[in-house]
Amino acid sequence: MPAVSVSSADRVFVLTGAGVSAESGLPTFRAEDGLWAGFRVEDVCTPDAWRRDPAAVWAFYSARRAQGQSAKPNPAHLALAELEAQIPSRFFLCTQNVDDLHERAGSANLIHMHGELAKSRCEHECGSPPVEDRAVYAGLDDVPRCACGGRLRPHIVFFGEIPFEMPRIEREISLSTLMLVVGTSGNVYPAANFVHWARQAGARTVYIGPERPLNAPAFTEIVEGKAGEVMPGLFRIDN
Ligand code: APR
Repeated sequence: MPAVSVSSADRVFVLTGAGVSAESGLPTFRAEDGLWAGFRVEDVCTPDAWRRDPAAVWAFYSARRAQGQSAKPNPAHLALAELEAQIPSRFFLCTQNVDDLHERAGSANLIHMHGELAKSRCEHECGSPPVEDRAVYAGLDDVPRCACGGRLRPHIVFFGEIPFEMPRIEREISLSTLMLVVGTSGNVYPAANFVHWARQAGARTVYIGPERPLNAPAFTEIVEGKAGEVMPGLFRIDN
């Protein structure tokens, strides 16, 4: 497996998707046994679903919280944390994942563009910040309310909502010279556009995963394989 070289002039932008957590035992979304095989997006992951049936939404995310409790970072998460540790001022990690495995692997300079499973926030834009919340709710009656009276909802970006921190993401992509994309199928926007934006900025673009993503033509390099198997030792840092 040819190494991916990271030169002293490189500024690295990393995008990860569900595939990076697959070897930690967390399901991806669009695999045959993926999350969307068992649930309809419109029933559990849209603003309309929340208005119509908050109990179903909380049942879905509570089950994911329970599933995540035993998950541990895998060698792919660790490889990214190690890369960051070697080039901390030239590294930025944007994940679509709502699990906290990157943080638990030691990643620091990261954002969750689709939210975080271990947080909840008021359903009303009342200004109260998201709260740490790992509770697995048995039913809607157990879900706390905000001081404003609103019900807490999962701190997740539902389909049709705007991802978090887009201005910062766009800026980091425009400054990047090397984009690494790990374990995402290229189905969901705006994340699936990032590789095109990076190419426009003149960056090298490397995809890492066992299957070619839908946006494969936009990558200058594809490293085919499971992330936890191919990423340890993949990066050669040229100082
Ligand atoms: N290592 C690397 N990649 C893997 C592995 C692995 N071990 N196993 C699977 N993959 C790849 C698959 O080939 C697939 O391309 O991970 C990808 C997962 O794709 P999806 O299930 O579509 O998940 P993702 O791209 O992260 O979804 C994007 O869609 O449902 C929404 O908000 C949700 O953030 C999510 C977004």
